[in-house]
Amino acid sequence: MGFPLVGPLPQDLRDKFSPSEKALSGRWRENLNWKEAVRGTGFPRSFDLIGDLALVRLKPGTPGVEQAKLLMKLNPEVKGVFARQGALEGEYRISPLRHLAGVDRTLTTHRENGFAFVVDVAQTFFSPRLATERARVCQQVRPGERVLDMFAGVGPFSVQAASRGAVVLSSEINPVAGRLLLLNAKLNGVASRVRYLPGDASRVANGQARGWAQRIIMNLPGLSTRFLADAIASTAASGAIINIYVRSEKDPSEELKDLGLSILQKRQLKEVSSSEKVYALDLHVPSVSRRLPKTSPLSERRGWNRSWMLQRLSRQLRRTLS
Ligand SMILES: C[S@@+](CC[C@H](N)C(=O)[O-])C[C@H]1O[C@@H](n2cnc3c(N)ncnc32)[C@H](O)[C@@H]1O
Repeated sequence: MGFPLVGPLPQDLRDKFSPSEKALSGRWRENLNWKEAVRGTGFPRSFDLIGDLALVRLKPGTPGVEQAKLLMKLNPEVKGVFARQGALEGEYRISPLRHLAGVDRTLTTHRENGFAFVVDVAQTFFSPRLATERARVCQQVRPGERVLDMFAGVGPFSVQAASRGAVVLSSEINPVAGRLLLLNAKLNGVASRVRYLPGDASRVANGQARGWAQRIIMNLPGLSTRFLADAIASTAASGAIINIYVRSEKDPSEELKDLGLSILQKRQLKEVSSSEKVYALDLHVPSVSRRLPKTSPLSERRGWNRSWMLQRLSRQLRRTLS
């Protein structure tokens, strides 16, 4: 999110400035914009706004308290500023935070596409940048559809799918995210259609959700392809759609087609680095009746057989994509 052009800096802030920041206040007086003001300070030009908290990426050791205070002055909706001290890491996809300015709390309520989500920015994953993507996917959901949200987080996909009339199973390994997911389902009036299943998504896909899902949402870009065989095990006999996010150096479409899955839609969601991108793909898993009997040589060639697909998926995707 970009910053607006700025006006003069308030006197109380100017008074508190250290010498280097006084130079910064001089630039404000010249009415230059925020990008100019932070140039060379190591402070990023953009931030993520989650509820009333701003999160910036700051290298450990880079000071940023005064810039964070400025950020709050210029954006009155921001009540607290935190620095992300590294990449999203670990199973829970979170990063260590450093408090820079304003309120020192990590719980906030974020509004997205007309829904409210309670998020703990320190203990749970949440990206406000996915709002449009979540709206795109959830617009595809039909009333009564059975949806498995494999990596549900605090529930933004689950809640928005349930609000379309879907019945949702939400698996999530982070217990804090799981508790917030339940709270968010209640807050948005869809608790009766969202069931939280704690623990590993592959266990859920091969257990409670086996043969059940008409749609599977897989938002774990770095590892999602490792769970594709599990996702297919959860698909209903009548076929299913998989909305998957894949982080990869190359476009994964050919491998996926090779496995007998058809691609309904594909878009490049973001560039993670000069070589790696995140792709959003809508895949179609055919109905069991179109997955010919295991013994048929034709089915082997076409790749419609479920166990053939599962075996080949596990082998090929582990090798080429992960
Ligand atoms: C990238 S986040 C996506 C969260 C959510 N879908 C969203 O859009 O905000 C991935 C989530 O998957 C969870 N997770 C990671 N590995 C998992 C696993 N094996 N089984 C279930 N959940 C897992 C993480 O805790 C995290 O909340």
